[in-house]
Amino acid sequence: MTDYALKAENITQKFGAFSALKNVSFDLKVGEVHCLAGENGCGKSTLIKVINGVHRPEPGARIGFGSGQSAGHITPSDAKRNGVHVIWQDLAVFPDLTVAENITFDSFVASPLKPVGSRDRKRRVNEIIARLDIDLDPDELVGNLSIAKRQLVAICRVLDADAKIIFMDEPTASLTRKETESLLRIVRRLSAAGISVVFVSHRLAEVLDVCERVTVLRDGNLVGTYPTEGMSQKKLSKLMTGMDVHEEPRGPQTFGETAIEVKGLTRRGEFADVSFAVRRGEILGLTGLMGSGRTEIALTLFGMNKADAGQILLEGKPVSFGSNKDAIAAGIAYVSEDRLNLGLIQNQSIINNTAITVLDDLADPPVFLAPSRLSQLCTSWIARLKTKVSDPRLPVSVLSGGNQQRIVLAKWLATNPKVLILDAPTVGVDVGAKAGIFEIVRDLAATGMSIILISDEASEIHTHADRCLILRNGRIHQQLDPADVDEEKLEELINA
Ligand SMILES: Nc1ncnc2c1ncn2[C@@H]1O[C@H](COP(=O)(O)OP(=O)(O)OP(=O)(O)O)[C@@H](O)[C@H]1O
Ligand SMILES: [Mg+2]
Repeated sequence: MTDYALKAENITQKFGAFSALKNVSFDLKVGEVHCLAGENGCGKSTLIKVINGVHRPEPGARIGFGSGQSAGHITPSDAKRNGVHVIWQDLAVFPDLTVAENITFDSFVASPLKPVGSRDRKRRVNEIIARLDIDLDPDELVGNLSIAKRQLVAICRVLDADAKIIFMDEPTASLTRKETESLLRIVRRLSAAGISVVFVSHRLAEVLDVCERVTVLRDGNLVGTYPTEGMSQKKLSKLMTGMDVHEEPRGPQTFGETAIEVKGLTRRGEFADVSFAVRRGEILGLTGLMGSGRTEIALTLFGMNKADAGQILLEGKPVSFGSNKDAIAAGIAYVSEDRLNLGLIQNQSIINNTAITVLDDLADPPVFLAPSRLSQLCTSWIARLKTKVSDPRLPVSVLSGGNQQRIVLAKWLATNPKVLILDAPTVGVDVGAKAGIFEIVRDLAATGMSIILISDEASEIHTHADRCLILRNGRIHQQLDPADVDEEKLEELINA
């Protein structure tokens, strides 16, 4: 007989007249790794919030943990008592506290009158770190750690609080390939220890790799729950989108004049002797492992960092950027990979976020954009990017993660650049929307825009780049036409 850690039935969640979840059921076995999958805005994070007592579903719902009684809704303290924890994308760790203080934070808050002696605290922290077999220094300040390590701290913290069910909402979205592998290893270890993990990710390969079952939602409806054994990525994307997602390779194109050229670009410790040119209408793929210099080159092209040597030419003329403001004025746009932190001002409206580049950076001296013009600009890009927005005056924080990504893209497209640098543009974006974003990128190229596409997804480069540079240790290692190799070969070359 199967032991269930959680059973949830008939979950309907409304926000005003809008139903984010319609009659959804979900169950979780003890020690199971279970994926929640579906397009941006389908209700994954909302379901997590219902099960954690953040939202109260409509009457008729039943939610129960283990062999306990089920109830119509869950309070946050019910969730805690039953060992249910969520690790959100922002991780909610405290940068000014040490690793050990962060890990034992919950138990400290739970019984402040019985402060845990620092020796006891250390012992418990070391025990958890050893159990997970990870490399963390208990005395280090969390503010000094990488995202991946902060995530480990967040995992240790819920283990210290005796978690039985851990929800991880897109835990791998901002991790490198290596960090992802190590996280998946830890997830397997948790599962072997009898802890159930609910895992949300838009990277279908890792979903099929680490999860035992996958529950698919579409527009707030349950499509079904399936074993991952025997499931293909293609079948899973069809379940998520209801369509066959199929992207045709771009095929041969004709290009215009050279729009941007770099010669011998060097920045000590980051990249050296980088030379390439991108013509109008061309999509250049820039790939290589994290740390190979991709993002660093982009930051220099965008005026954020100064080169130590070499030249940047725009339409044949040498340029020198004192700041990104200069780069924007010269017609360069950069969609950063760190969209969660750099991309948006969460409490500002969707309109203002879309218009922010136009308002702050281009307007020097500041010009006044009439509200009607602003809203027009915003709605046209929202429509082109098929962003699900009920009202553009709402704060950007109410949008689902993937739809926030599209707003970041929109705000840069609103600057109408000559050269658009896209750094990992589809991280956290669902399969259907990925195809949509590339459709737009191709349309932009067709208007004569030059695109530099930075990505470590071989399939993206293979399908969409006209030419590709593979970077290794800050140097161009190889230049190739993606059409000359198959996708597996390209993947091999990137990861070699
Ligand atoms: N507090 C809220 N008020 C109004 N609408 C909301 C609220 N929270 C979520 N929504 C809406 O509910 C829908 C589901 O959102 P949810 O965040 O659950 O999506 P998701 O499946 O997690 O998507 P993503 O993959 O993009 O993170 C979206 O249309 C979202 O805008
Ligand atoms: Mg979400």
